[in-house]
Amino acid sequence: MNQLKPELENSPMLYTAKPFLKWAGGKTQLINEVESKLPNDFGNLSYTYIEPFIGSGAVLFWLLNRYPKIEKAVINDINSDLTNTYKVISTSPKELISVLSLMQNEYYALENNQEKKSTYYYKKRECYNSRKSDKIAQAALFIFLNRTCYNGLYRVNKKNEFNVPMGSYKKPTICDAENILVVSKALQKVEILCGDFEQTLNYAGNNSFFYFDPPYKPLSNTSSFNSYAKDEFDDEHQIRLKNFCSRIDSMGYKWMLSNSDVKGFDGNNNFFDELYSEFKIGRVKATRRINSNANKRGELNELLITNYIPE
Ligand SMILES: C[S@@+](CC[C@H](N)C(=O)[O-])C[C@H]1O[C@@H](n2cnc3c(N)ncnc32)[C@H](O)[C@@H]1O
Repeated sequence: MNQLKPELENSPMLYTAKPFLKWAGGKTQLINEVESKLPNDFGNLSYTYIEPFIGSGAVLFWLLNRYPKIEKAVINDINSDLTNTYKVISTSPKELISVLSLMQNEYYALENNQEKKSTYYYKKRECYNSRKSDKIAQAALFIFLNRTCYNGLYRVNKKNEFNVPMGSYKKPTICDAENILVVSKALQKVEILCGDFEQTLNYAGNNSFFYFDPPYKPLSNTSSFNSYAKDEFDDEHQIRLKNFCSRIDSMGYKWMLSNSDVKGFDGNNNFFDELYSEFKIGRVKATRRINSNANKRGELNELLITNYIPE
């Protein structure tokens, strides 16, 4: 059973909120680069921080901790199971912890019986896909599957059924009670939206800063993984996103956007260099983590594009 540390209730600053999921394209590796390219006045002004493709929220949690002056944050994702999980953590962390803790105990009890463990996993997956559970149980299933599935992948078929097989972890952390509680505290100043990225504009006010981390453009037709939801994010979406960036630029908002450096992979591919030619394109080193073949997890460049000149 996961024991809650009593001091956590009174001293939340002892712990720092960190992503509660493994997620393709998680930005933990890129945080120093993101920080070095933030607007100069980011630490001094009270910004509204807007992240339209939240995923596991690595940048969000880090910024909320590092910049207490952030007055409000608005996060969004098209994956409604993901945003439901954020909402449940925000409103009902303790109830979520009890369900998750039970699942963890049940799963650990099967540690030495691979067959039963597998039956347990696939039953939970079926239950998740039926989407008949209440919001808290559905969020618990989401976290359970994320922690126990193959490589922490989130992949669904056209019917929005999660279809990732079981992973081979012996004793994965399924219920990180301390982190769920600090994440819940951090989310109290965060508005959680579900839908297309463009809707976030309705929530922008004075001093809003947008950070876009869309599904990356694949480096080649067969290479990268960018299927998080039942709808693909193809070149047309990348162009629509650029048009949105131009729109908010002309409205006076500052933004940063990350994507894959397709030109670094194929010198003739100028897709992003042309698309964002009117903005500031930076290239930074980053290690991709979602490649299932450990040998292919090489160093690659990523793009960090801004509509202002970072110091
Ligand atoms: C690269 S991931 C974000 C990773 C995140 N920065 C992190 O640290 O985990 C991209 C996210 O965009 C979401 N997404 C895909 N299409 C979208 C759309 N049209 N509008 C909003 N979100 C979308 C996916 O569900 C996925 O969670």
